[in-house]
Amino acid sequence: MQLTRDAFARRVIAWQKTHGRNDLPWQNTKDPYRVWLSEIMLQQTQVATVRGYFARFLIRFPDVASLAHASLDDVLGLWSGLGYYSRARNLHRCAQQVMALHGGAFPATTEVLETLPGIGRSTGAAIASLCFGECVAILDANVKRVVTRVLGFDADLAKGSNVLALWDAATQLLPVGKDLASAMPRYTQGMMDLGATVCLPKRPQCAVCPVREDCTAAKAGDPQRYPVRTRTLKRSTQAIWMLWVQSADGAVWLDKRPTPGVWAGLHCLPLFDSEDALLAQVPVALRKGLEALPVFTHVLTHKDLYLHTWRLTVTQHCADWGAGQWVGAQAWPQVGLPAPIRKLLQGAVGIG
Ligand code: ADE
Repeated sequence: MQLTRDAFARRVIAWQKTHGRNDLPWQNTKDPYRVWLSEIMLQQTQVATVRGYFARFLIRFPDVASLAHASLDDVLGLWSGLGYYSRARNLHRCAQQVMALHGGAFPATTEVLETLPGIGRSTGAAIASLCFGECVAILDANVKRVVTRVLGFDADLAKGSNVLALWDAATQLLPVGKDLASAMPRYTQGMMDLGATVCLPKRPQCAVCPVREDCTAAKAGDPQRYPVRTRTLKRSTQAIWMLWVQSADGAVWLDKRPTPGVWAGLHCLPLFDSEDALLAQVPVALRKGLEALPVFTHVLTHKDLYLHTWRLTVTQHCADWGAGQWVGAQAWPQVGLPAPIRKLLQGAVGIG
């Protein structure tokens, strides 16, 4: 067992050296701040998108202290467009806890890292193994695919107990040999890279996979069968009406979305559940100036939003448009806005 086990890890490690990704901006550093920031950004976002955000974050917040001392609005502003904004709120809280509870130094073990906001078992293990060499398994979506295929693990991952069993199985694959002790960062990166570049969901590249000889699914010729997960996401739809009031000098009326809810904590055009509710907010004398823009769709994780926009141009910062405030033409591009609203305001949503 020991031999097979380290044989698998050895192959992953050797492959990572020559075929893995070794020049991503968050690599070649053991700085847990950078690794943590990249791991949080990469949780639901592609590498290509993360690159720019990661660079901008580091310029603005070069270390955990500067991030902890920033306002949440500044953090959300810089996060704007990455989506899944709870990540940004947790990022901010996590930085504050690292300062307050850990003297500004990230903890070095998964066990303690996991107690911090936004850091789950896999993210904690990624940080601990990449930065501190802890011998712990990661199990993000890509790695779940690799491990289930290699082991032929076909239990339903909709069930929590099966996921726990998969964690145990992933732990059994970790390198343990003495000569491999310092290779943990490369093993972790190798598992991520295999999942992201070889063990693909629909077109697995088994012919170039370094562990095809260890792989139950490759031998059986059915890698696409894995992972098994029965639960399908129940999607819903929601129509939302948005009031876009802009003054002649380019200022926009924005309010702040309540927590919890869609786009919690971000600045946004005032939202309404119905056209009637929107109209009720507009003084009768101004209603004839309202212009209905084409409806557009925005896809959230569990929901398709149908966004109806009514635009109104006013001559001055007049009237009370409900909770919210005027945000000047120079200022609104800097605040945290949901991506579709930013596109809309910047004229990228195909409006007239
Ligand atoms: N996805 C999650 N973590 C990653 C990392 N460190 N490198 C590339 N992709 C990743």
